[in-house]
Amino acid sequence: MKNKSLTFRIFINTFLVGTLIYFVCAFMFFGNLYTYFEEQLFNELESESIFLEDYVLNGDLLKLQNLETKNRITLIHSNGSVYFDNTVSFEEMENHALRSEFLGAKDKGVSKVSRYSSTMTEKTLYFAKLLSNGDVLRISCNQHSVWVLVLGMSQILLLILVIAVIISGISASWISQKIVHPLNSINLDEPESSDVYEELKPFTKRIAEENFEKAQREEIRAQYTANVSHELKTPLTSISGFAEILMQGGTDPKITVDFSKSIYDEAQRMTTLVNDIIKLSKLDEKSIAMEKEALSLRSICREVMEVLSASAKTKNLSLNLEGDSGLINGVEPVIYEMIYNLVDNAIKYNKIDGSVNIKIQEIQNFAGDRNKVILSVSDTGIGIPYSERERIFERFYRIDKSRSRSLGGTGLGLSIVKHASKYHNASMLVTSEEGKGSTFTVVFEI
Ligand SMILES: Nc1ncnc2c1ncn2[C@@H]1O[C@H](COP(=O)(O)OP(=O)(O)OP(=O)(O)O)[C@@H](O)[C@H]1O
Ligand SMILES: [Mg+2]
Repeated sequence: MKNKSLTFRIFINTFLVGTLIYFVCAFMFFGNLYTYFEEQLFNELESESIFLEDYVLNGDLLKLQNLETKNRITLIHSNGSVYFDNTVSFEEMENHALRSEFLGAKDKGVSKVSRYSSTMTEKTLYFAKLLSNGDVLRISCNQHSVWVLVLGMSQILLLILVIAVIISGISASWISQKIVHPLNSINLDEPESSDVYEELKPFTKRIAEENFEKAQREEIRAQYTANVSHELKTPLTSISGFAEILMQGGTDPKITVDFSKSIYDEAQRMTTLVNDIIKLSKLDEKSIAMEKEALSLRSICREVMEVLSASAKTKNLSLNLEGDSGLINGVEPVIYEMIYNLVDNAIKYNKIDGSVNIKIQEIQNFAGDRNKVILSVSDTGIGIPYSERERIFERFYRIDKSRSRSLGGTGLGLSIVKHASKYHNASMLVTSEEGKGSTFTVVFEI
């Protein structure tokens, strides 16, 4: 497709069809007209033959010779020899026994034959008739060939062609604009409100869906920004508050220590929050390709357990790890973060003397499926209400805000887990029973 303009393509096609129709019509018209003339001429020759036959049968050849006619009259014996011709001397004429009009007349009584001259500019029509005495009477006349006729009418034909081209051009331009106009008038912001062609409905529907998704994404983003600002503002307010009091001086050394600790804790919170936000945005920007490598889930779980053992101890929890080594292809810091957040939650939302069980299963190719590595983190904690199971993966979402906050949570942990598993094409599953515990399962396909 050289020219991509739809208007131009519709125009040129309509225009060509219009012009083609002109040529077809002209061709048919001339063909018919010409055949009609030819038939007329044959009819004239035939009616002339009727009274000529009388002259011949009466032996009145002199009358024939003097007859005022523009047609050529020839008389042929039944053996093909010519014995009369009103235009040339018949003695010089060759035997006509093999001429098709002669043979035709002998065979059927009458025959009509037409032949082109060598230059193709003229055509001779022959009407031959078998007489009662066995001779053949032939009358012929010349006719311009169809090409001469066309040539003769070339001026008028050209004029009609010009008119046809102009009409084709104007209507093609009108049609193309009329067809393209509804396309140009589609409102891309509200494509479904535009009155479009049936064939374009799937297209406009798709745009409408994309617009909706875009609006939704923008809404989520706006919400996220508002949440981030709010989460940052809360610790900053307390820090300013504590610092303001300390600034005035003269506070009791014990209170000074307490306030300083609070300032430190809040600053720590902010650091965690900012780090989480950075991790999430890194996972969001899929353009940043992170190096994937062969990893053992088991050894990462070990690292996490070691880091979190102290907090597990405060609740007297037992941390257990069982199963295979769980080899996957992944980004180490991202997988670490994912496991860390799952185990961290399993500890944070657990009960005193409970347990956290981590299980890794490698499942070999089953019924044509890909090999799987399944990681599950189970706890014996407070559990998650059924209605909250989707929402806990939303950014900043916490079931019990004050409780999570007192545990230092920002509500970003599970969003990081969700994004990390998505980044690795892994699927997530949550099962939970309120008051008994929860299990988070991540299924990697390898
Ligand atoms: N194992 C679990 N048992 C019970 N509730 C859980 C568990 N894991 C997560 N939740 C609930 O889901 C919410 C969201 O978890 P998420 O890890 O995203 O945030 P967080 O733990 O509050 O904060 P962060 O992980 O950022 O420190 C939690 O506040 C908690 O209410
Ligand atoms: Mg968490």
